[in-house]
Amino acid sequence: MRTLTTVAAMREEARALKNAGRTIGFVPTMGYLHEGHLSLVRASKEAADATVASIFVNPAQFGPREDFARYPRDLARDSALLLGEGTDVLFAPEAEDMYPPGFRTFVEVEGLQDKLCGKTRPGHFRGVCTVVLKLFEIVRPDTAFFGQKDAQQALILKKMTADLNLGVRVEVRPIVREPDGLALSSRNKYLSPDERRAAVVLSHSLAEAAAAVKAGERRPEAVIGVIRGLIGREPAAHVDYVEIVDTGTLEPAPDAGPGRLVALAVYFGATRLIDNLIVPKQG
Ligand code: PAJ
Repeated sequence: MRTLTTVAAMREEARALKNAGRTIGFVPTMGYLHEGHLSLVRASKEAADATVASIFVNPAQFGPREDFARYPRDLARDSALLLGEGTDVLFAPEAEDMYPPGFRTFVEVEGLQDKLCGKTRPGHFRGVCTVVLKLFEIVRPDTAFFGQKDAQQALILKKMTADLNLGVRVEVRPIVREPDGLALSSRNKYLSPDERRAAVVLSHSLAEAAAAVKAGERRPEAVIGVIRGLIGREPAAHVDYVEIVDTGTLEPAPDAGPGRLVALAVYFGATRLIDNLIVPKQG
């Protein structure tokens, strides 16, 4: 595995890979890797000739009161994990190289960026889109891999890629979970033992919501009520939002039928966790 820490070196590597006729699969991350990230690396290994993973804790996507400074970092461990998966290139640039003094250009996906997480995290998706567009330009992937865990992010990045004719195939892969159902997240590290125990309510409440739909409930407010009721029983949990939306527009859906996105964000102390579910087709 080659580890590259400058934009110039990564651009050169991408050019060499292209010249050799190799397709590039790309997995952008902020590091502190877990099985969710590694599932994307494996998907890339299957789809492309060469796999590039990036690790960059992107300052532009954190709000002033968010956890940028304390976001967990462990490059040595991440590097070993990526090596173990057969990653070809690790790109880990410095912030000054990605955002030199005087940087002024940002990408916005209007409408979609203001829904769901965008309400609590203004500017977040602008930061995500900007860094991902830059990374696409530097890494020049044929296919890029993202997780359904961040459903809104995946949708916005697909839209950006289509609207700007970036020519990158965006693949979205399923959520990887702990055995008890908690979606893997680098931020799970912040949870106290009590919060960690309580956090299982997220996936549990989504499963109960799916069961209610399966039993015939279609009223969004009733299904949201099931989720809020269960989360409300956990004193450590404080709801940011629970919504049932159209998967294309992220607008509130008129019904909670199959194909709808049920998305939630919940605080456990200062830690904000997200999870979601696409209501399954009845079978
Ligand atoms: P990060 O949170 O490190 O996540 C990197 C990728 O891993 C994202 O596509 C995310 O959806 C995926 N992922 C995280 N947890 C997952 C899980 N439990 N199962 C499956 N996939 C999971 O998302 C970001 O970084 C950043 O916003 C980034 C796109 C890198 C831009 O800075």
